Amino acid sequence: MGTVAQFIILFVSLLFISCSSSTRSEYEMKLLYEGWLVEHHKNYNDLVEKDKRYEIFKDNLKYIDEHNGGNHTYQLGLNIFADLTVDEYQNNDLSFNPLSEMNMTYKESNRHMLNKGEELKLPNSVDWREKGAVTHVKNQGKCNSSWAFSTVATIESLNKIVTGELISLSEQELIDCYRKGCGRDDPVKAFQFIIQNDGIDTAEDYPYKAVYSKCDLSKKKKKVVSINGYVLGPFNNENAMKEVVANQPVIGGVDSKSRAFQLYHSGVFTGSCGIDINHAITIIGYGEVDGKDFWLIKNSWGTSWGQKGYMRIARNINKCGIAKYLSYPTKRYFHLAENQWQSI
Ligand SMILES: *[C@@H]1O[C@H](CO)[C@@H](O)[C@H](O)[C@H]1NC(C)=O
Ligand SMILES: *[C@@H]1O[C@H](CO)[C@@H](O)[C@H](O)[C@H]1NC(C)=O
Ligand SMILES: *[C@@H]1O[C@H](CO)[C@@H](O)[C@H](O)[C@H]1NC(C)=O
Repeated sequence: MGTVAQFIILFVSLLFISCSSSTRSEYEMKLLYEGWLVEHHKNYNDLVEKDKRYEIFKDNLKYIDEHNGGNHTYQLGLNIFADLTVDEYQNNDLSFNPLSEMNMTYKESNRHMLNKGEELKLPNSVDWREKGAVTHVKNQGKCNSSWAFSTVATIESLNKIVTGELISLSEQELIDCYRKGCGRDDPVKAFQFIIQNDGIDTAEDYPYKAVYSKCDLSKKKKKVVSINGYVLGPFNNENAMKEVVANQPVIGGVDSKSRAFQLYHSGVFTGSCGIDINHAITIIGYGEVDGKDFWLIKNSWGTSWGQKGYMRIARNINKCGIAKYLSYPTKRYFHLAENQWQSI
C-alpha cells in the first residue's frame, strides 16, 4: 500500500475517533467513506452502485456512532462489512450446517464424556495464541465455508499441541475434494473425510481460492497432518466447554445474524443476536475482563472484522447460541513415559 493511502487511512481513523459521539457533517462522512474504500481495496466503476453503497455506509455509521456513544462492554466499527445491509451481510455467510449435532443417533464413541464430579483445577484464563498454537486469521471470502475454516483451525492447533509444529492446513482441499463446491456443511463430515483420506495437505501446497476447483490429490500433494477421531459435545454446558477449551481449541457455532455482530469491533460482545447457529467459529480460549466472562473466538472473516479477526463474546449465558454446538478432533500419540499410545 502506498504512503498516500496509509496517510488517508490514518487521517480517516483519527477523524472517526475524534468525531464519534457528535453528529457528523456530510463532508466528514464522505471522507470516511473514501478512506474506507481505499483501506478495503474497493473500486467502483459503477457510480450508481457506489452511491447506493454510500447510503448504506452512512446508515451503518450512524448506528455505530450511537452505539459507541453509549456505555457498553463492546464497540462497533467500520469493518469489512460496513457497506452492507444486515440482509446482504447475512446472505454472505450462512455456512454452518451441523446436521450431526441435531442427530442424536451419532455413535456413542464420538460423544464427549462428561467429567463425573472430579474437581479440576482449570486456569482462570486461556489463550492458545500465547502458546503459539493458532495460525494467522484467514478469510473465507464468499464461499460459505466457515465449517472448513474451523475444522482446519482445530486440527492445526491440535497438531501443534501434540507435535510442537504449527502448520497452516488446506481448507481448499475440503472444498474441492470433500464438498466439491462452496456452501454450508458440517465439520463432523469434514473430520470423517480427513480420517478416511489419511490426513490433510498444507495450505502452502493446496492454497485457498474461495471458489470450487477440481480436486487435486496428486502424488506431489502431501498429506502432512492426520487425526484419528473426533468428539461431539458437550452441548449446552459452558462449564464443561471450559474444560475442553483448556485442553485444545474447538469448533463452536454462533448465530451471526445481527447488525451488532456484523459491525463488531472490540470488547466483550453482549449485543443482540438469536440462537439459531449458522456460522462456525473456533473457540481458542476464555477469560474474564471487568467482571465479564468471555469466550475468545477466532473467526474467518479476515483481520478487518473484529479485534484483528478475533472476538470476545459473553460466556455462561449461551450468547448467540455458542453453547449449542461443540466438536473437536482427536489424535493418537505415543506417550514415552507411559510406554503406550494415548489419545488427546
Ligand atoms: C457503565 O456501566 C457499568 C456497568 O453497567 C457501570 O458500572 C458504570 O458505572 C457505567 N459508567 C457510566 C459512565 O455510566
Ligand atoms: C442421522 O444419522 C443417520 C444414521 O447415521 C442418518 O441416516 C441420517 O441421515 C442422519 N440425519 C441427519 C439429519 O443428519
Ligand atoms: C452462500 O449462501 C447464501 C445463503 O444461502 C447464498 O445466497 C449464496 O449463493 C451462497 N454462496 C455460495 C458461493 O455458495
